[in-house]
Amino acid sequence: MSEQRICTIEQLSDVLKKTVSERRFIHSVGVAQTTTMLLEYYGCTDYVKTWNGLEAGAFCGLAHDLAREMPGQALIEYCRNNGVELTDWEIKSPVLAHGKASAHMASLLAPGYPESWKKAIEAHTTGRNGLDDLAQALFVADFIEPSRTFLTEEKRRQYLAKASLTACEYAILCDMIAHWKEKGYHDASEGSLLLKRELEEKLGI
Ligand SMILES: [Fe+2]
Ligand SMILES: [Fe+2]
Repeated sequence: MSEQRICTIEQLSDVLKKTVSERRFIHSVGVAQTTTMLLEYYGCTDYVKTWNGLEAGAFCGLAHDLAREMPGQALIEYCRNNGVELTDWEIKSPVLAHGKASAHMASLLAPGYPESWKKAIEAHTTGRNGLDDLAQALFVADFIEPSRTFLTEEKRRQYLAKASLTACEYAILCDMIAHWKEKGYHDASEGSLLLKRELEEKLGI
């Protein structure tokens, strides 16, 4: 894959199709469409909209899970071999490293793509504070895109009824943290808690 370069969304879509399962491909197309929809729906302006003719929501949505199907140890090795720094949290739960690995894979396909797009892809797993509208939209889209069948239409409507993208992201983050706790997967990561506090500050909660 490192030899390939993409110039268009169609080419990125072709690479994705060859890299992940059909289910993941459908999810990623859903995330691309939903990210783009959210950015328009909430009238977002705080992000880099296009780069080299590529559109932010489409690019990040298609690229965000490029590494998602790599086994945990392979993900850790990929990051080590490519100089991608991991947090203790990611080393402990390697699946979380797929954000950073996917962002790195995207940089091989589209060298020099915007740093803010890279950060959005890196952070989509648990969210991260201090990022722009694109990162927020990608995080939300990953959770609510149409092929996510764990979500009822009613719940999806409730999220989209939020007055701002920040309020929508906050509702999802709170539900995710509650879900992790309930299922006993893991406690909220430090990053998720920092993001939660930042969103509460923004929302005046
Ligand atoms: Fe992901
Ligand atoms: Fe995803």
